[in-house]
Amino acid sequence: MEVPKFLTQRASVRAYRPEPIPEEDVAAMLAAAQQAPTDAGAQLYSILRVRDPELRARLAELSGGQRHVLEAAEFFIPLADVYRLKRLLAHRGESLGNFPRTALHFALLDAALAGAHLAVAAEAMGYGICWIGGLLNRVDEVARLLELPEGVLPISGLTVGVPAERPGPRPRLPRATVVHTDHYRRYAEEELEEAYRAMAPITRSGDWLKVLKRYFAKGGTMEARDAVYGLAKALAGFSDDLPAPAARALHLRGLDAGSLAEAIAWLLEHEWRGVLFSEGTFGESEVWIEQETEAHRGEGKTPGEALARAVEAAYPSEG
Ligand SMILES: Cc1cc2nc3c(=O)[nH]c(=O)nc-3n(C[C@H](O)[C@H](O)[C@H](O)COP(=O)(O)O)c2cc1C
Repeated sequence: MEVPKFLTQRASVRAYRPEPIPEEDVAAMLAAAQQAPTDAGAQLYSILRVRDPELRARLAELSGGQRHVLEAAEFFIPLADVYRLKRLLAHRGESLGNFPRTALHFALLDAALAGAHLAVAAEAMGYGICWIGGLLNRVDEVARLLELPEGVLPISGLTVGVPAERPGPRPRLPRATVVHTDHYRRYAEEELEEAYRAMAPITRSGDWLKVLKRYFAKGGTMEARDAVYGLAKALAGFSDDLPAPAARALHLRGLDAGSLAEAIAWLLEHEWRGVLFSEGTFGESEVWIEQETEAHRGEGKTPGEALARAVEAAYPSEG
């Protein structure tokens, strides 16, 4: 049996012809996306199709001004989505359990699989595709523009269009470097050197380290995205210890935090000398935040909620 060439020879396409994709082809791609496997059959994803040119232009800008986002016939955004699940449960009188970490894990997986199936179907039909992780540069702003409700988070963008280029396949790490048998094999230094040699052709300079550094080293783009992602994740209700309403209340006051620890760190960096948690009157959480001249108290079901109340009390006018 042979694996089809469009899979083994595929490459991302970043130049598109100004031709639309017939609606029946778009429908076929979306049908393939929907046929992707999904955890427990719950389909914890949605796919947002961007049609409005102004919105597309703004998204292209937020993604770092990538031209192919503007030029591709279609721009899709697969979304991790537990909002619909929550509504489905509520519709029949049930409520969603409290499992923000696993919810995010499986919703991201469902969205990535649906997106991957869409992309592969498009490539099978002869279209070009490119994933746009640049959309995560300002995922908070993207979520706002798309009017995403709590429980929904974009995973990436995906351009699809008629290719104006036919790039050849790009290098990959040696198979033995990415495939392990039975146990995870740690890497010898020589194998790491071999990895750099294998990936060298991916850049004009022949030095893969330059690319890795730009994205993943200290001061790289991933670090810059992390706080923004934390905020968007908390606003979407996927933080471990900062419920979405608390994250929103803090955000409205200029305190952007993805977790309780980040919120505390912000306060301590902004002239608050103490953040003191204790058990509240009714077994709930209580917190005092203090400066030289003032102190504010908050109470709530969780420490995150209590802290949001105290911050609301400290900054009453800006909400
Ligand atoms: C999650 C994800 C995000 C990506 N983000 C971008 C992007 O913002 N812009 C872009 O031009 N390519 C992007 N790419 C494409 C990768 O650069 C590309 O897949 C990789 O270099 C391998 O090349 P190939 O797809 O041609 O084999 C992304 C790919 C993935 C999977």
